[in-house]
Amino acid sequence: MTYRVTKAVFPVAGFGTRFLPATKSVPKEILPLVDRPLIQYAIDEARAAGIREFIFVTSRGKSALEDYFDSAPELETSLHEGNKGHLLDLLRQTDMDSGAVAYVRQQERRGLGHAVWCARRLIGDEPFAVILPDDVIDAEKPCLQQMVEAYAEVGGNMVATMEVPAQSVSSYGILDVGSTSIGATMPVRAMVEKPRPEEAPSNMAVIGRYILSPDVLDNLEDMRVGAGGEIQLTDAISAEIAARGNVNAFRFRGRRFDCGSKSGFLQATVAFGLARDDLRDEFLTYLRSVTEVQEPASKLRAV
Ligand code: UTP
Repeated sequence: MTYRVTKAVFPVAGFGTRFLPATKSVPKEILPLVDRPLIQYAIDEARAAGIREFIFVTSRGKSALEDYFDSAPELETSLHEGNKGHLLDLLRQTDMDSGAVAYVRQQERRGLGHAVWCARRLIGDEPFAVILPDDVIDAEKPCLQQMVEAYAEVGGNMVATMEVPAQSVSSYGILDVGSTSIGATMPVRAMVEKPRPEEAPSNMAVIGRYILSPDVLDNLEDMRVGAGGEIQLTDAISAEIAARGNVNAFRFRGRRFDCGSKSGFLQATVAFGLARDDLRDEFLTYLRSVTEVQEPASKLRAV
């Protein structure tokens, strides 16, 4: 039996407080990494994985996100008349099929688990992907595509994972995958949301890519409040480990940037800027000049 995944949920109802004041009026997912909004990277990754239905869980103040997926006839006419065909092509790459994008509101910010639960009627009774757009993953084969391929063999539930430094475990959902795990897909024995370093079962963190069974939505029905006073997706997945033991971790190949944090966003900007043929040389020259200036200064301070 193979397991197909054609729907993806993008929970984007958070306040994005770490990017205030920018996020007072601009959704975090619209902030550009070089020249494309974060959400575009997530959409492209989902498309590459075969996703056909894109479900956004939004909140008040996210209308810029909805507009982004609308057509822009005046802009297109202007680019056409100005013979700016290359920009027109760029714009058309962001077009979505009619009816492929759906929005549901999360009226109250009650946590990631609650946001996913808000999409339950659109998800229906089939496996679905969840993508957190502020986790940007640079990979030869897009992360969700790697997962969908692995999922087709094993089914159940799957969470993306990577190792994080021991002192950072309290920022993540952390997995107990046993000590003998080898290979990319590993059965999960337990998972705990934001543990203290001394209580963490490992340093394998859950990253913002999931493929989940509809049973997880049932587990969210009880609205159990977990770490940080929020309804946690991790808790609903943990309940699947207890009930059916069918949760796997997937160690993806690629480099993940935490674009929900300022430092991660800056690192991603440097990495994606340097990867661009049209920017690389000028940008690299600039970066070299900055490090040349700063190194002697820091050495001076150390004396
Ligand atoms: P974060 O914990 O990063 O929160 O949410 P945030 O609001 O986006 O950002 P900060 O921490 O205030 O800076 C992780 C993901 O879960 C979504 C967010 O939009 C983000 O994609 N989320 C979180 C919801 O959709 N609803 C919630 O109630 C909570």
